[in-house]
Amino acid sequence: MAIETVGIVGAGTMGNGIAQAVAVAGLKAVMIDVTDAALERGVATLAHSLERLVSKGKLDAAVRDAALKRIETSTDYARLSSADLVIEAATENAELKTRILKQIEAAARADAIIASNTSSISITALATTLAEPSRFIGMHFFNPVPMMPLVEVIRGLQTRADVADAVRELAQRLDKTPIGVKNAPGFVVNRILVPMINEAFFVLAEGVASAEEIDAGMKLGANHPIGPLALADLIGLDVCLSVMDVFLKDFGDSKYRACPLLREMVSAGQLGRKTGRGVYQYDKVS
Ligand SMILES: NC(=O)c1ccc[n+]([C@@H]2O[C@H](COP(=O)([O-])OP(=O)(O)OC[C@H]3O[C@@H](n4cnc5c(N)ncnc54)[C@H](O)[C@@H]3O)[C@@H](O)[C@H]2O)c1
Repeated sequence: MAIETVGIVGAGTMGNGIAQAVAVAGLKAVMIDVTDAALERGVATLAHSLERLVSKGKLDAAVRDAALKRIETSTDYARLSSADLVIEAATENAELKTRILKQIEAAARADAIIASNTSSISITALATTLAEPSRFIGMHFFNPVPMMPLVEVIRGLQTRADVADAVRELAQRLDKTPIGVKNAPGFVVNRILVPMINEAFFVLAEGVASAEEIDAGMKLGANHPIGPLALADLIGLDVCLSVMDVFLKDFGDSKYRACPLLREMVSAGQLGRKTGRGVYQYDKVS
């Protein structure tokens, strides 16, 4: 299964990052979104990201120019017919993804692999949307895609072994390290990371230490590059809360109970960097 052209559905944060990684690796990217404005924003974002890499001396200007030429954009799903693999990276909504996957299946070649970059929806459940579920797989990239070296390759119950092999090989061509994961809520990284962040909120709420001390503790004592509370502000407290709520529901285990302080801060609209206030206060909203 040689993958040379990758279709990407969704030109947002993750979609345009995936398109960038694909094009820099020398493959063709076909990026689809619902409006020309969304596609233009996606291309502008990745062009800016490439420009920064060139100005820092991390990428050749000629590689950037060639990469930009390998990216095609369209609002027409029919353009996915040239793709060997289509990665769905649209808004995180199960109903929307179900509709999009049917559209992808109708447009893509019968032998094309179909993947989703979903963070929280079951790959096994999404696969049932397709007439041919064995060609469906999870390909979970991390944000920002051009910088983060991990891809979780998630096999649903129906996923064929050769599909998983082809996707792992592609991840390596994109200069990423794939890890093989069996479908389960949160996959591997978020399953471990988000409950740790939640525990940091319990430690804060109990007054065991201040936010600064908790973060310093995990940076200096566990060698984490960023403390769990600062990371919560970066991810968004609302996102952390909704992940905990999904774990509690899906596993039915009270160990995934969200910290009441986290819930309280989300209710107050203190969502982190994006609202200028979370655990910490920020001058600039980002
Ligand atoms: N942002 C992250 O940190 C992160 C990390 C890993 C995985 N993910 C997952 O990646 C996916 C995308 O997240 P994002 O942060 O890039 O979202 P985003 O909101 O930045 O982008 C989503 C894009 O999908 C487009 N879209 C919506 N409906 C569409 C349709 N019918 N056809 C084509 N395009 C459509 C939107 O116009 C938008 O451009 C989600 O499933 C999310 O869970 C996100």
